[in-house]
Amino acid sequence: MKLKNDLILRAVRGEKTERTPVWLMRQAGRVLPEYRKTRAKAKDFISFVKNPELAAEVSIQPVDILGVDAAIIFSDILVIPEAMGLPYKMIEEKGPYFEKTIRTEKDLAQLHVASGEELSYVTDAIRLVKKELNGKVPLIGFSGAPWTLFAYMTEGSGSKTFSKAKKMLYTNPTLSHSLLQKITDSTINYLRSQISAGADLIQIFDSWAGILSPEMYNEFSLKYISKICNAITGVPKIVFAKDAFFARKEMGDLSCEGISLDWTMNISESRKLIGETKTLQGNADPCLLYADFATIKRETEKMLRAFGPQRHIANLGHGLYPDTETEKVKFFVDTIKEFRF
Ligand code: CP3
Repeated sequence: MKLKNDLILRAVRGEKTERTPVWLMRQAGRVLPEYRKTRAKAKDFISFVKNPELAAEVSIQPVDILGVDAAIIFSDILVIPEAMGLPYKMIEEKGPYFEKTIRTEKDLAQLHVASGEELSYVTDAIRLVKKELNGKVPLIGFSGAPWTLFAYMTEGSGSKTFSKAKKMLYTNPTLSHSLLQKITDSTINYLRSQISAGADLIQIFDSWAGILSPEMYNEFSLKYISKICNAITGVPKIVFAKDAFFARKEMGDLSCEGISLDWTMNISESRKLIGETKTLQGNADPCLLYADFATIKRETEKMLRAFGPQRHIANLGHGLYPDTETEKVKFFVDTIKEFRF
């Protein structure tokens, strides 16, 4: 179906756009009171994610309420470990928790490569969202990067240091690579099924990129992101490696169309390192949205000018924080949509 608003798809492919398009990481989430209302209908986070009707509803809310130029499918990166045989819990106010983690060859042998079919609740939600959107804006599909998923599967929960996950890289690189490859194969199958169901664009989230050294990042993360980028064809791909300022040059060589920057990355320096052939996304500090309206406008316009009029998708440098006021989020989106060079 032809899209009525294809600004993000044009921008990511490097085609001309009349204005800078915008969407927000974690736009389908707790920042909206409407999200919390829908979420209350489900028993817990996981049954919410597994309910295609509810997932579709909250995927569309930000398009209607915030006026963003794309929807992102409501789900979580941790559905992949679960589909591979490693279930998780989402503990309220705390985050993910894995009762069992991967420590040994035996643990790894018990995991299987996900075919994508285990995740039919996500592809069903994608089909519902596409139907409901009726071509209004594109739909973004996503996955975690293998390293970020590995970090949760070996650590068992969030962590400041992920020292258990990193210990595995240092003490058992062979096992680490086998697990990363299994996650990579699962992710490729999963992303292909998201695309078959209707995802127009894919983003890969490497939230824990910044805790590795540049050398280890190349070996244990970028290598697998690169395999995914090479395997996924047909729709544009954006790679978001949080805090991986040291890998920007290498990211320029990935077979993807977009690179998402966080707020610690200088915009013109990033452009030089990544090169002219990628679209850049980002990179406002989510905490900017705690500021007053005048500050939000000034800083957002400064950001837009620094990126320039083409090959930019405006976004935050990481997900929205749950206590951000909806009015401020809307104002950020409107500032971008009204700005002209
Ligand atoms: O709007 C969107 O971006 C789409 C939905 C989405 C969620 N998680 C829903 C969610 C996306 C793209 C994610 C990705 C995700 N999940 C990442 C990568 C991006 C990032 O933020 O770095 C990571 C690391 C996770 C793992 C995860 N899920 C954590 C650490 C947590 C708990 C902390 C938190 O941010 O709340 C979650 C829970 C989660 N995933 C929520 C939502 C809306 C909050 C759960 C709730 O409703 O109570």
